[in-house]
Amino acid sequence: MLLTLRVPRSRLCLGRQQHRRLLASTAPEEAKRQTTQHPLQLEINGNTYPTDSWTNVTPKILSHLGLNKHLQRDHPLSIIRQRIVNYFYGAYRNQRGNPLFSVYDQLSPLVTVQQNFDNLLIPIDHVSRQKSDCYYVNREHLLRAHTTAHQVELISGGLDNFLVVGEVYRRDEIDSTHYPVFHQADAVRLVTKDKLFERNPGLELFEETWSGSLADPKRILPSSKCMDQTKQPCHTLEAVKLMEHEMKHVLVGLTKDLFGPRIKYRWVDTYFPFTQPSWELEIYFKDNWLEVLGCGIMRHEILQKAGVHQSIGYAFGVGLERLAMILFDIPDIRLFWSNDSGFLSQFSEEDLQNLPKYKPISHYPQCSNDLSFWLPANVEIDAGFSANDFYDLARTIAGDVVEQISLVDKFKHPKTGKTSLCFRIVYRHMERTLTQAEVNEIHKHIADASVEAFNVQIR
Ligand code: DAH
Repeated sequence: MLLTLRVPRSRLCLGRQQHRRLLASTAPEEAKRQTTQHPLQLEINGNTYPTDSWTNVTPKILSHLGLNKHLQRDHPLSIIRQRIVNYFYGAYRNQRGNPLFSVYDQLSPLVTVQQNFDNLLIPIDHVSRQKSDCYYVNREHLLRAHTTAHQVELISGGLDNFLVVGEVYRRDEIDSTHYPVFHQADAVRLVTKDKLFERNPGLELFEETWSGSLADPKRILPSSKCMDQTKQPCHTLEAVKLMEHEMKHVLVGLTKDLFGPRIKYRWVDTYFPFTQPSWELEIYFKDNWLEVLGCGIMRHEILQKAGVHQSIGYAFGVGLERLAMILFDIPDIRLFWSNDSGFLSQFSEEDLQNLPKYKPISHYPQCSNDLSFWLPANVEIDAGFSANDFYDLARTIAGDVVEQISLVDKFKHPKTGKTSLCFRIVYRHMERTLTQAEVNEIHKHIADASVEAFNVQIR
């Protein structure tokens, strides 16, 4: 779930009646308007934002703002949040025995491009910035793609140990583990030389040969220069090794706290633009290695941007849905948005330590329909047509009854040169059986709206 970024969800399982209304009411023209045309300005949380050619956020996606599933009493995501927060409260205490970490779990998800990318040294041409991957309000504002977006503002405000928890928004495929809105927790810990080398006075955080003024915080080094998995040029090896040791110790502690002391885990070297060196922690679960978090030693340029010159820091980010799906045995990411009492009543924060396994309320059947169309002449996938645009359109029309969409066939006509695509759409309602007639109607709406929105020709 990392920058290699990933995943999740919306307000679909609104409850039966609302859902029916939604199914019946989003006609193709309206869906097209919602996904491809925008008003001149958007009003979000009481602020007005002019739209522009970058705007791609839909009303459906915006409807997730403020739902705060991670704060909803007894919700599985809220339980996971509390487990992580409590672990950090226990792992780090000050001399008076009070928790060292502070928690920010209600920051607005509407952030600037500077917060989400520039401040974190994400190169200007990095894939994660693309319009096809994020929900942009306009060219300067987007719904955060990760909770890491708040690092610089919080450090600038004087914080040195903090957790940020909230929902993030990413355009992605649709399947049982991916939803366009999901939740993350991100943490930062900064330490000074005196603290880090308490027992080894005389050691230094920074190389003697490195002059702080040489690093121009405005100059973003190309990522190829930040791949050295040993350390950043400015840091001493001792400082990095001690931080790495502390970070890994704490994160393995968190993993064992969540999954039990016998969980099998491994560290995998990786790359993030904002940390160096960087790692992912994987756990062995149901015969597979599953990545659970990303972390690393924070790039010193980020601390400099935030006005901190004499500390070294580590940071990590973790996706909550993935943890919750494993810990509660929840099979489908859409369930986290369900308001169905049959789902919600199964969890309670009375006992945070003993997490119950989810019992499927019932299993309603799937319906699968294919949709094939010709793209307009000279248009190809990722050159004039983005599959994520199609997924958003389908979601806008059908809502959460779309369980999965996959591109099952693609070919180019030898004579006309036109590209044909076939998407398989799997429909399933979480709370009742869908009839084939009902599915056909929704499917037809998606087809009509695709013709409207992308100028395709249904086959
Ligand atoms: N932001 C990353 C993601 O969403 C996760 C991450 C990795 C967060 C490393 C961090 C970090 O704070 O240090 O994929």
